[in-house]
Amino acid sequence: MTASDLLVTIEGEPQSAIRLYLLHVSQQMPMTTDVRQITVPQFTALKAAGKKITMLTAYDYPSAQLVDSAGVEGILVGDSLGMVVQGHDTTLPVTLEQMIYHAEMVGRAVRHALVVVDMPFPSFHLGVYKTIENASRILKETRCQAVKVEGGVERADVIAGLVSAGIPVMAHCGLLPQSVHQSGGYRVQRNEEQLLADAQAVQQAGAMAIVLECIPAAMAERITAAVSIPTIGIGAGAGCDGQILVFHDILGLSNGRPPRHVKAYADMNGLISQAVARYRDEVRQGIFPSKDQSFQ
Ligand code: KIV
Repeated sequence: MTASDLLVTIEGEPQSAIRLYLLHVSQQMPMTTDVRQITVPQFTALKAAGKKITMLTAYDYPSAQLVDSAGVEGILVGDSLGMVVQGHDTTLPVTLEQMIYHAEMVGRAVRHALVVVDMPFPSFHLGVYKTIENASRILKETRCQAVKVEGGVERADVIAGLVSAGIPVMAHCGLLPQSVHQSGGYRVQRNEEQLLADAQAVQQAGAMAIVLECIPAAMAERITAAVSIPTIGIGAGAGCDGQILVFHDILGLSNGRPPRHVKAYADMNGLISQAVARYRDEVRQGIFPSKDQSFQ
């Protein structure tokens, strides 16, 4: 057999059988084996290394690709999708099936960032066994690496159960959107003693990191100093180990007045409205399609 026997031609280009085999194998490889993807221990170690952690939400393939290629360390498939994508006024209607549906798209897109998926209400309230069953579906069906659970001291047993099953958990303390009816609204949380106890309880239970939502900056800084796992703030000031915001909020894609802790880095609502209006006008005026967009 000569070397030319091993050549196959694709689109006029000779390809060696070895190259084709490697291409085939690399296409079969799950993305989670990509050596560049940040692992849970690497993510947690960013705190000790003194590196600020950037996280953003993403809910589908194109947004996850954009966020991932910008080089953030973590992506959250947040149940905030119930509000920003589905149009509900709380996160409560979001189901486990819907989280898996969105997380699958995100998991397929991401090459670099650690991907965390929110456990929706009440998928972690029905006992440790049921919680492990639900969370393991997320890991098995989506290529994502960790789940997020809202709650502090009261969720420590569930977090410990998940961790003992090998399921990494990001905890979420402070304002808990899934408990909005119990707390009476989306308010800044100021009970430092409780927040500190929550942070210590979830750390003790094995959480890999803690989201701190809507708590005074100085309080968040003290909590950050009191725990060895990273704190990821949203409306919790600059003293946290990292920050997270909602994709639609930073792009100016959300409707209504954004909460105070949000900073919009673009006005995509304005840009999209302008583009759609131009398209509408060009169709009405017979400008689109022109010869350039037509087949002869
Ligand atoms: O659901 C979500 O997007 C969140 C973050 C904003 C922390 O929980």
